[in-house]
Amino acid sequence: MRTLSVSLVGGFLGVAAMAASSNITFNKDVLPVLQKNCQECHRPGEVAPMSLLTYSEARPWAKALKAAVVTQKMPPWFADPKYGHFANDRRLSPEEVEIISAWADNGAPEGDAKDKPAAITFPTGWKIKPDMVIEMPEAFVIPAKGTVNYQFIRVKGNITEDLWVESAEMRPSNPKVLHHGKVWVLPPGSKWMEDAVLGKPYEGVEARRNDQFDGNDILGKFNPGLGAQSFDIGGSAKFIPKGSDFVFELHYTASGQITSDISRVGIVLAKRPPATRYYLSPGTPAALNLVIPAGDPNAEVVAESVVGVDSIKLAYIQPHMHLRAKDYELRLIYPTGESQVAFKGKWDFDWQLGYDLKEPIVVPKGTRILTIVHYDNSANNKFNPDPQKTVYWGPQNWDEMQSSFLGFLIPANTDISQVLKASGPSLKPRPQSGPGPSLSMVELPK
Ligand code: HEC
Repeated sequence: MRTLSVSLVGGFLGVAAMAASSNITFNKDVLPVLQKNCQECHRPGEVAPMSLLTYSEARPWAKALKAAVVTQKMPPWFADPKYGHFANDRRLSPEEVEIISAWADNGAPEGDAKDKPAAITFPTGWKIKPDMVIEMPEAFVIPAKGTVNYQFIRVKGNITEDLWVESAEMRPSNPKVLHHGKVWVLPPGSKWMEDAVLGKPYEGVEARRNDQFDGNDILGKFNPGLGAQSFDIGGSAKFIPKGSDFVFELHYTASGQITSDISRVGIVLAKRPPATRYYLSPGTPAALNLVIPAGDPNAEVVAESVVGVDSIKLAYIQPHMHLRAKDYELRLIYPTGESQVAFKGKWDFDWQLGYDLKEPIVVPKGTRILTIVHYDNSANNKFNPDPQKTVYWGPQNWDEMQSSFLGFLIPANTDISQVLKASGPSLKPRPQSGPGPSLSMVELPK
C-alpha cells in the first residue's frame, strides 16, 4: 500500500515515508542539502553566525535549522512564488525542507561515515579572473560597536579608453563586516560627488546626488552569498566610458572588535563591443515625495516611471527601502493597457536582495513601471526607530526610501538619460495629508 502511494504521488511523499522509517541521517541526506544551499554563508569567515560544515557544528542547531527552513526564514529569499520566475531563486524544494525537518525530529542522527559526500572546496580568492581590479586606496576602520552610516568613497579610475565589461565581482577584504556594498561608475562630467576628495569616506552623500540621470551605472555589488555578476545575457555587457571614476558605497556593521576593510571590484572585459548594454537604473522609479504618517501600520506609497526608448528588456529587479517597509510590488502597465505584476515580495532591510528574471521582459516605449510599497510606522514594527515620527525621503536608516535598481538590456548606443522618466504620482508635490503618494492618485487602465 505504502509503496503504491509513493510511486503514485512522487518524491515528496517518498521522503515523508523515509522520515517515518527514521532513515534520514546527517551524512547521507542532510549534509548534501547544507552543502548546496547553506554553506556559502554558514562557514568560517562568512556572514552567518555559525558554521554548518560538519556534523558536530550542525548538531546543536538541529531544531533551529528545522525552524528556519519550515518558516522559510532561511535561505533568505523574499519573492512571492505566485509572480515571476527568477534565475537566482534560492528556495529549498519541499523535499529538502522535509529532509531537515525529519532529521531534527528523529534525534538528528549522524549516520554512517561512508555515506558522507566529499567536502566542498570554496574558492578563497576571485571567482572570476579579473582583467582589471579597482580598489579603495585606504582601509576603512570599523568600530567595535555602534551603527556605522553608509560610506561613499570616490576612487580614481585611470580609464584611458571606453570599456565593455562582461562580468564583475566586488570583494571586501573582510566579509564579516561588509554587510553590503556597491561600486558605481561615475562618468566624466557627472555632478554626483564632483567635489569629493579622492579616497575620502563621506556619509550620506546620497542625499546630495544632483540628479537621478547623471549617467551613473552600478558596476559591481556585494551581498552575502551573491558572488560574481555576469552582464552577459545573450551577449550584453556593461559600459564604462573613458575617463570614468568610481564610487564605492559601503554599509558596514560592527563585529565586536575594531576591524578594517579594503573592498575592491574585479572586472572581466568583453572581447568586443556588444550590441546590447546591460544598464542598471540608479534608483528609479523613486518616490522622492513620500510621506509616512506617525504610527500608520500600513502606509501605501507608489512611484512611477515611463520607459522612454525603444527595444529594451527588463532583466533584474532590486527594491530598496529602509527599516519601515514591509513589501514591494513592481507592476508593468503596457501601452496597450494590459498590465503584469513582474515581482511581488516581502521586504527585509537586512537583505538587500536582487532578483534576476529568468526570461527578461520586453518593455515597449511608453510602458509605465509602477512600484507599490507598504510601510509599518507603528510601534508593532520591531525595526521602527521612532513610531512617533512622520517620515519623509532621506538617506539615513531612520528616513525612508521607495526606490528600485532595475537592470535593463538596451541597444548599446541608447542615451541612458532617456531610458526612464518619472511620471504620474512621482511628479506630484508631496501629499499634504495622509500617506502617499498612494495608488488612488494613479490613473489605472480600466
Ligand atoms: C546568503 C547567506 C545565507 C544562506 C544561503 C543561508 N543562511 Fe542562514 N543565516 C545567514 C545569516 C546572515 C544569519 C544571521 C542573521 C539572521 O538570522 O538573519 C543566518 C541565520 C541562520 C539561523 C539562525 C536563525 C535564528 O533564528 O537565529 C539558522 C538556523 C540558519 N541560518 C540556517 C540556515 C540554513 C539551514 C540554510 C540553508 C538551507 C541557510 N541558513 C542559508 C545567512 C545565510
